[in-house]
Amino acid sequence: MSEKSPPETYGLSESAVFDKISEVVEKYRGCDGCLIQVLHEAQDICGYLPPEVQKFIAKKLDLSLSTVSGVISFYSFFSTSPKAKHSIKICLGTACYVRGGEKIVEAIEKELGVKAGENTPDNKFSFQITRCLGACGLAPVFMVDDDVHQRVTPSAVKDILARY
Ligand code: FES
Repeated sequence: MSEKSPPETYGLSESAVFDKISEVVEKYRGCDGCLIQVLHEAQDICGYLPPEVQKFIAKKLDLSLSTVSGVISFYSFFSTSPKAKHSIKICLGTACYVRGGEKIVEAIEKELGVKAGENTPDNKFSFQITRCLGACGLAPVFMVDDDVHQRVTPSAVKDILARY
């Protein structure tokens, strides 16, 4: 598959992905203000909104790419990168920061081989830094999916991640 094509997602081939997005665009054609709805449905089809899909939608709707990408970047529920199997969120709010949160970030980066804000190459983990997760008394804290890991030490990171 070329670099310029979206990956096969949810078992759909590349052409099936674009066919389905075309159907969505046609459904909303002529509807002013329906770009968000088109993007939502395209994201449901694709899992995320890579540049090729953004360009496709912009062309189909006769909009500029910057209009489409501007809407995507404004709303946090749109994603331009594939969803990873597991989502790691580490808190660097004040309590977690002063109790060594940065050392946990370093330990996770070392374990996964990626920087915060990136996905692992196998797309098993996404890794984001967040603000307070509401568990300051248990700092430092990080979450993997819905699991909260509390009073974490750098040496515990490897074993925690191995569970996923
Ligand atoms: S500062 Fe980390 S949970 Fe509140």
